[in-house]
Amino acid sequence: MDVLWSLLSSEEEELCVLDCMAHFMLLMAACTFVTLLFEHVPYGRYASSKYGFPVNVRVAWFVQELPALLVPLCLVVWTSSAKTSRLPNQLLIAMYFLHYVQRSLIYPFLIRGGKPTPFASFALAFVFCIYNGYMQIRYLSHYAEYPADWVTHPCFITGFVLWLVGWLMNVHSDHILRNLRKPGETGYKIPTGGMFEYVSGANFLGEITEWAGFALAGHSVHSTAFAIFTMVVLASRAVAHHKWYLAKFEDYPKNRKAFIPFLF
Ligand SMILES: NC(=O)c1ccc[n+]([C@@H]2O[C@H](COP(=O)([O-])OP(=O)(O)OC[C@H]3O[C@@H](n4cnc5c(N)ncnc54)[C@H](OP(=O)(O)O)[C@@H]3O)[C@@H](O)[C@H]2O)c1
Repeated sequence: MDVLWSLLSSEEEELCVLDCMAHFMLLMAACTFVTLLFEHVPYGRYASSKYGFPVNVRVAWFVQELPALLVPLCLVVWTSSAKTSRLPNQLLIAMYFLHYVQRSLIYPFLIRGGKPTPFASFALAFVFCIYNGYMQIRYLSHYAEYPADWVTHPCFITGFVLWLVGWLMNVHSDHILRNLRKPGETGYKIPTGGMFEYVSGANFLGEITEWAGFALAGHSVHSTAFAIFTMVVLASRAVAHHKWYLAKFEDYPKNRKAFIPFLF
């Protein structure tokens, strides 16, 4: 770790690198938005062999998401993390960790009958998790400065509530999807219950809400870039799934929207 930090000769330089990473993520969000207008993300029902050999879905989720947990853990435990004694930083770091403990250590082992992940999708997700894990937690643990009473500020409180509601919606919706299949089944059914009564991409709406809340509470270009990138990727999945359901199921609920209840 010390070798890594010695490459960045000053804290100003590292902060500048973190800021550049966030702006690059915003640029990638714009490029991804344009790309996804023409191409489905190659996974699940849209998986294609042209994006590399298939990786077992549980292995893919576990391995690709693990860096999002391990990189931040190493940063907090083994590097000078000057701001981890402050309450706003502690809460934001805890919000991030709660999500990734569930996503990397629990979610992969609950998947039922998921399609293999093409290697390209797996590799991109793996790199993203390292990149974003470093950017979010290095900033929060060592650089982010909040006023002492930030946790009672309306931005933090609203952001925290959005994050919690979004996380619960995401976990609940993934639970509904999982239970559509009996053990051994791999086909698709119409999801019902929870936010699926309103939108086809309820799990995606949950995750978009979650990271939007995190961005509001964190008030930084780093958390904002992550929220925008997530929105671009997951809104496109929700729209693709919605169109796919309408084409596949004649009896698909006509008043259900893609990912914004009553609107879109
Ligand atoms: N933060 C980010 O940038 C990001 C990016 C990607 C994903 N995620 C999160 O990761 C989670 C999974 O994402 P995903 O894109 O894989 O979600 P998904 O396409 O909704 O699939 C989730 C699981 O449910 C199954 N499934 C979906 N619809 C089904 C249906 N109608 N009937 C039966 N089974 C169904 C899928 O099986 P198949 O594999 O067979 O399709 C898969 O195992 C979500 O919570 C999402 O928010 C986050």
